[in-house]
Amino acid sequence: MILTVGAPAAGGSCVAHAPDGRVVFVRGALPGETVRVSLTSEGSKFLRASVVEVLSPSPDRVAPPCPYFGVCGGCDWQHAAPSAQLALKTSVVRDQLSRLGGVAWDGSVTVVEPLWGWRTRSQWAEGRGFYAHRSHDVVEVGRCLISADPRPPVAEPVGSRVTVLHRRFEVAPGGFWQVHVAAPSLLVTAVLDVLKPQPGESCLDLYAGVGLFAAFLGEAVGPTGSVMAVESGKRACADAARNTDDLPWVRIRTDLVTPSSLRPVDLVVLDPPRAGAGVEVVGALARQRPRAVAYVSCDAGSLARDLRVLLDAGWALESLQAWDLYPQTEHVELLAHLTPP
Ligand SMILES: C[S@@+](CC[C@H](N)C(=O)[O-])C[C@H]1O[C@@H](n2cnc3c(N)ncnc32)[C@H](O)[C@@H]1O
Repeated sequence: MILTVGAPAAGGSCVAHAPDGRVVFVRGALPGETVRVSLTSEGSKFLRASVVEVLSPSPDRVAPPCPYFGVCGGCDWQHAAPSAQLALKTSVVRDQLSRLGGVAWDGSVTVVEPLWGWRTRSQWAEGRGFYAHRSHDVVEVGRCLISADPRPPVAEPVGSRVTVLHRRFEVAPGGFWQVHVAAPSLLVTAVLDVLKPQPGESCLDLYAGVGLFAAFLGEAVGPTGSVMAVESGKRACADAARNTDDLPWVRIRTDLVTPSSLRPVDLVVLDPPRAGAGVEVVGALARQRPRAVAYVSCDAGSLARDLRVLLDAGWALESLQAWDLYPQTEHVELLAHLTPP
């Protein structure tokens, strides 16, 4: 099939239309290109396809540096110049915020370096490669150009030694840690900047991981303040307790975040997994009156749905920032700063 390709879509593809009018999500293309594709899946409403030949290339097209690109499912946009990747991601974030949340955002996704070798943690399938796109077929990879440690692992992963700004954090293998090498300090700085925690204030850190935000909030509010960190992973909580043991006013609760995790506090940070916090938790948050909320998200779609709940309850979106903390892939990281009515 020969198609002319339109706007980028969530998932790292571009939208085109088949001759019968059905939407086709095309991987490996860029907006404006005419491409020959092969179909990879066919449903009644939409099709998926991959580029086999570019008939009219976009000026934004570059040669992907990685020999596995297009087969390995780890990267989506290596064939786009760095500035074009930011424009593609900005377009997708704007579309998702508007379509799923009714939020008009005129900001842009900000570049974060390095663009290669940025990934501090990778899960190698069978210790030898990565999954193909939307598949469990393992693509053997000799060297991953986005990984800080590019070769397949030779030993079981061990815990990491990590310094963020002036604090040390321990992270058990398999525990969550922000994946871009620059992410922890960038996000901590941005969260503190929007919330401006003051000595004596009380805070909630929901989906707290190994206590990254809890530790810095704890330092800022001091011994007359308090931080309650809620995280479901037992090992992450053990790390979080160790990572904040110099701040006894930071408490770690091993639990799922539910509406009952919420309590009257001055400040709330939430950093849920890709699915978002969901309507029940965000609905309960909307009924609280903290001074401010910082919502950190790695998925514009779920953030948009959760923002809608708060905006419908009269909350104000003070700012929304987005960073390209996942260069060469379709992902972005976002921070929404909200205040109650
Ligand atoms: C995106 S990570 C954020 C971690 C931390 N804020 C950080 O920046 O390092 C999400 C965390 O939420 C935890 N988690 C996932 N679902 C949860 C739930 N329903 N309740 C509590 N924690 C959850 C995961 O174990 C993970 O540590």
